[in-house]
Amino acid sequence: MNRLPAELREATCAFLDHHRETHPSTTEEYAAFREAMLQDMQQGLAVGSTAPRTLIEGQRLRIRTACLADEPFMRGVELDPDNRPWVGHWPLPWRIARFGDRNMLQCIIEKRDGTPIGILIFSDMSITHEKLQLKRIALIKKGHGYGKETLCLAQRWAFEIIGTPQLYLGTKEHNLRAQCIYKAVGFTPGMPDPCTYFYMNKPHGKGGTLMLTTRRSIRRFTGEAVSPEMLANLVNTAAYAPSWKNSQTTRYIAVTDKALIARIAEECTMGFEHNRGIIANSPVLMVLTTVNGRSGYERDGSFTTAKGTHWQSFDAGIAAQTFCLAAHEKGLGTVMLGIFDEAKVAALVHVPEGQSVSVLIPLGYPAEAPNAPKRKGAEELLTIL
Ligand SMILES: Cc1cc2nc3c(=O)[nH]c(=O)nc-3n(C[C@H](O)[C@H](O)[C@H](O)COP(=O)(O)O)c2cc1C
Repeated sequence: MNRLPAELREATCAFLDHHRETHPSTTEEYAAFREAMLQDMQQGLAVGSTAPRTLIEGQRLRIRTACLADEPFMRGVELDPDNRPWVGHWPLPWRIARFGDRNMLQCIIEKRDGTPIGILIFSDMSITHEKLQLKRIALIKKGHGYGKETLCLAQRWAFEIIGTPQLYLGTKEHNLRAQCIYKAVGFTPGMPDPCTYFYMNKPHGKGGTLMLTTRRSIRRFTGEAVSPEMLANLVNTAAYAPSWKNSQTTRYIAVTDKALIARIAEECTMGFEHNRGIIANSPVLMVLTTVNGRSGYERDGSFTTAKGTHWQSFDAGIAAQTFCLAAHEKGLGTVMLGIFDEAKVAALVHVPEGQSVSVLIPLGYPAEAPNAPKRKGAEELLTIL
């Protein structure tokens, strides 16, 4: 049931009907689209009524979230004759609906005394682990360096607070002034069009968050071999993984022998063709094993906690991920495989007595660059009490 105020509902319907031709669809589809828009607006009205919050403050300016009361100001900025050639204008229904859109964040740029001087809209808010778009920036006061200061604040917010690995923005081809400013504050002209697309990666190379969010499971490898030195390097890094009472029970058996890899692929994948193919084409198969009976145990052999043997796999998991991140940092690809016949693998690679195979990790130089499978967001994963 839509509870939009009647006046707003009517105005919205009139607006949508007026632009009917931009939605080429059947009458039923159009009716559904119109109803969805009204629902979005209802959601937007609720979100837009919440009090603004400051995202970040600089020397002269602050960026805060916008609310419905800012709508006249935002419209004024977008329709300002100086901005009109470069900036789009969101009609009222669209603006309201976008307040409820979790992918967008509408903001106000204001002086520290609270005087609003511009608008800033972020997009791709639901995939900030990959990137964040600065969708719109428009100021009414130009020539004071406010644009640069705003962009620097936006970068700090994006990288230091949100932790996104990449901030990007688009601009109109002829907006040379904006292009100059973007370059001056560190954006790089990028593909597909160096005039209209600019991006900036989180500083510090592939460190920190970028390392975590850009690691992908790699299932196809080039034929290039991985040197023994590189393998030792990766294991030395993985050894820094935390472990139960620093027991360090994870061990690494690197299978590089092609015939042995082929046998493991054929005989140990329990008929799971997908994993058979991955292993068969990997230059290295890393077999992670764990020394039994230590992680989670007391010296007398009893369990320390009610979780029993659980901590052994827990430690192996941390070690495995640390290993995969170390490989990623060196430009190598990995994938953890959980479906395999443990007893057969153990026999083929001669796992020492008293150890269990925890996971198989094919390793090599990537021959693919897959996109990240969709991730849940903090709103679903995080509870703050
Ligand atoms: C414990 C575990 C077992 C997995 N087993 C398999 C597997 O048997 N085969 C496979 O192709 N991928 C396997 N994966 C990889 C996941 O499918 C992958 O991590 C997930 O889809 C997310 O993709 P990403 O690693 O690229 O972010 C496994 C991952 C984990 C952590």
